[in-house]
Amino acid sequence: MKELVIDPNPKQRMFFESTAKYTAYGGARGGGKSWAMRVKLILLALNYEGIQILLLRRTLTELRENHLLPMQKLLEGIARYSAGEKEFRFKNGSRIKLGYCDSESDVLQYQGQAYEVIGMEEATHFTEFQFNALTESNRASGNMKTRFAPRMYFTCNPGGVGHEWVKRRFIDRSFRGSEKPEDYLFIKSLVFDNRYIMENDPGYVQTLMNLPESRRKAMLYGDWNAFEGAFFPEFNPEKHTVPPPDIPEGSIRFRALDYGLDMTACLWCFAGPDGGVTVYRELYESGLLLSEAAKKIVALTGKGENIRYTAASPDLWNRRQESGRSGFEIMTASGLKQLIKADDARIPGWRVVREYLKGGEHSPGLKISRDCVNLIRCLPLLRFDERVREDAAGTPHEITHAPEALRYALCSRIPKPALQKRPAGGIYSFSPRVTEPRADYAEFLDY
Ligand SMILES: Nc1ncnc2c1ncn2[C@@H]1O[C@H](COP(=O)(O)OP(=O)(O)OP(=O)(O)O)[C@@H](O)[C@H]1O
Ligand SMILES: [Mg+2]
Repeated sequence: MKELVIDPNPKQRMFFESTAKYTAYGGARGGGKSWAMRVKLILLALNYEGIQILLLRRTLTELRENHLLPMQKLLEGIARYSAGEKEFRFKNGSRIKLGYCDSESDVLQYQGQAYEVIGMEEATHFTEFQFNALTESNRASGNMKTRFAPRMYFTCNPGGVGHEWVKRRFIDRSFRGSEKPEDYLFIKSLVFDNRYIMENDPGYVQTLMNLPESRRKAMLYGDWNAFEGAFFPEFNPEKHTVPPPDIPEGSIRFRALDYGLDMTACLWCFAGPDGGVTVYRELYESGLLLSEAAKKIVALTGKGENIRYTAASPDLWNRRQESGRSGFEIMTASGLKQLIKADDARIPGWRVVREYLKGGEHSPGLKISRDCVNLIRCLPLLRFDERVREDAAGTPHEITHAPEALRYALCSRIPKPALQKRPAGGIYSFSPRVTEPRADYAEFLDY
């Protein structure tokens, strides 16, 4: 039988030896995290008969490139890989299953399953909801002959959608409820700990040195406080969420829609007499065809609601290849009238959202009804894009839909002077200019 020859560095050895319920490794780039995770799981599979192991990354592509190919190479002649099941099966009955959780709900597929060990690679790419859901599957599978305390192993860098939940538990060690301090161990590793990089690719350290300051602090030195983190630090549930509101006389009601087959996010809003905007209802559902989404939006809208307009993503006006019809036409035919093109300029649009979140004397604020659980969940998860300053990251894609609908909603409250001439077909488009006073352009609509 082929022999596995491994030579871990001292930090990797600590990771291998940890039997804590939750062990996290890393904190910076290039410290040998992925290698350690892979090898640790293989060692467990070889040493414990019948152990069931799940190795997760956020996306399938990351999983394939970072783990599947290297593991196939490492395990040739040791374990058989089943492409259908995406798992390595060992002669002793052990199993390493490879999985990914692209969208928030992908994690639910693991519910009801049992794995003695779960490895989460790049844990800060996962949401707290996903982590919590996975802890339920981290239990005895019944296939092992020896006693084994179920546990999870994590690798991570600062930043990402899961920055807060990883930092709170492993770095700040600020525990809540039934969380026990002794269950959590963090092993910090830096690129300097990885002699394979230091010897073979010294230029990599230089690359990390050249990063912008806050990113360099995070990626080279593993500084968890350096990262910009949340895109909307202004968002504060205590300030911005309200019980389901009564809608004052004289308010203007409108909707904003970000349609996609993967997710339809629609927000019902009203602008009150002071110009402040309140989101009072949401639809957040995946898998809806255009016509279904339109009907659902109409059905959720009360008879006397008098919605002035629905600001929707401009791509709805593109003709679809399959049908030759546009999303706009299909939705209108399904009963969703008053669709207008939202302004989808991202950076100025995010600024508008930020202004509303800040609120203040001259800029009426934003409130969100507590019923709108998805908008409230997704807003604080939004991160900065790593390349385009001032833009929000497009990943994980699932959390972007509700904030984008909110952006369309708030940009639609931007001033009359920004209104461009009404084109044929009755569709307006806008260019938001936050410095201008806000006005209600809806009075121009004569649907
Ligand atoms: N103990 C080791 N033995 C052999 N190779 C190693 C060892 N540790 C790390 N390496 C190699 O060093 C390189 C970087 O390691 P790895 O990909 O695990 O780092 P990482 O911390 O996951 O990096 P990133 O932050 O980019 O995800 C890889 O080529 C890996 O195979
Ligand atoms: Mg890695």
